[in-house]
Amino acid sequence: MEEKELWTLKYAPKIESDIVGNYKPVEEIKKFLTNWSSKNEYKALLLLGPPGCGKTTSTYLMANIYNYEVIEINASNVRNKKSIEQFIIPTVKTRTIKMNKRKLYLIDEVDGLSGNQDRGGLSAMLKAVKLSEFPIIFTANDISNSKFKSLKSKKNKVKTVKFRKIRATTIAKVLAKICKAEKIQADPKALKEIAENVNNDMRSAINDLQAIAEGKKKLSVNDVTQLQQVRDMSKTIYQVLPIIFENKDIKECNQAISELDLDWGLLLQWVNESLPHHRAAPDVLYDAYSSLSKADIIMNRIRSNPQKISWTMLPYFIDLISSGVTLPIKNQDINQNVHYYRNFPGFFFSSFRIFSGKLMDVVNKIRKKLKCDSREIVTKHLPYISLMLKKKSAISQELIDFYELDRRDITFIKQF
Ligand SMILES: Nc1ncnc2c1ncn2[C@@H]1O[C@H](COP(=O)(O)OP(=O)(O)OP(=O)(O)O)[C@@H](O)[C@H]1O
Ligand SMILES: [Mg+2]
Repeated sequence: MEEKELWTLKYAPKIESDIVGNYKPVEEIKKFLTNWSSKNEYKALLLLGPPGCGKTTSTYLMANIYNYEVIEINASNVRNKKSIEQFIIPTVKTRTIKMNKRKLYLIDEVDGLSGNQDRGGLSAMLKAVKLSEFPIIFTANDISNSKFKSLKSKKNKVKTVKFRKIRATTIAKVLAKICKAEKIQADPKALKEIAENVNNDMRSAINDLQAIAEGKKKLSVNDVTQLQQVRDMSKTIYQVLPIIFENKDIKECNQAISELDLDWGLLLQWVNESLPHHRAAPDVLYDAYSSLSKADIIMNRIRSNPQKISWTMLPYFIDLISSGVTLPIKNQDINQNVHYYRNFPGFFFSSFRIFSGKLMDVVNKIRKKLKCDSREIVTKHLPYISLMLKKKSAISQELIDFYELDRRDITFIKQF
């Protein structure tokens, strides 16, 4: 198979003017690197901005132009005080004698510092800045939490440089340039659609474009909606739950359940998890759980004989959830304050573990390669990988290799 490269890398800015929408912060990085001395007012920069706006890219590009070697320290590995004191401080303190290139330390995602085990991590990082004989650049998406206050204090010698969200129109222009280079005839509306759906994240936009357009000569709005539909699948449970639990019209409720694009076993888990969070009287809850267990039995019957008539039993399953489980709850008086569980990850993964431990395997594999949480993997990345594998896109082999997926993983992801 032909080697394919990720477009985010292939079309990453090569010269300063390729970095769009963030002229000022790039100038700041330039000034910082060209004037750096350990006696300066600021010895480190904190690049602050949303995901995919060019913080890491600009750092590498400017370092390259001004002849710095970037030493990237993954903040997630060295977050705690001890490892910062043991590993980072000694290295940034000591100037090596043989140096043909100056060093620049990049410490990505400092906002990942959290919880008790990281206590002291931030102050150790700031100590590293004080002692450093080299420029340091931190990056972060969000430091609004008060624990990061010290990062903003002038005496700590870290200057905050804000990166701005990239506007959708600007993103669409970059996408158009890529299409031109790839000789793809793209409908500007399709590019606009991609750009408007990525939350100002250029990385996501370019990834989406590659997912949809690679191997094509033309790109239409229809192609874009296809990807969007796969993405939306995981959202629909949030739309259907309020209907299941709040709408008293059984017909509408049944309709919503039957249109839900989610595994039925998972729906059972959602409802099961939601039930105890309702202020229902014990006898009402008892009835609800009885119906739920019957729905579960029916689903097992259906699953055990999927080829044959068993799907005709599906209406009973749906009825049991809509009228059997949730109607008694909707009808009781005390339940003014409906409060069902909408927290995705914890429950979702435990239910999936019951349903299939395979998801956890796959999520863990992907998490080894991506800096994001499980929820993001399930809602954003798996649908995309799944679509690519199903479409046998040119990039699918690259994804398989990158995430080290085996045949069983691939079969599982394709069903996702
Ligand atoms: N301002 C930009 N101009 C041109 N391309 C960009 C810009 N920002 C991001 N990109 C594209 O998106 C990719 C990812 O950007 P980058 O890694 O720099 O984002 P980031 O701001 O560091 O995000 P994160 O906070 O997630 O680390 C780049 O490789 C590049 O292709
Ligand atoms: Mg980055």
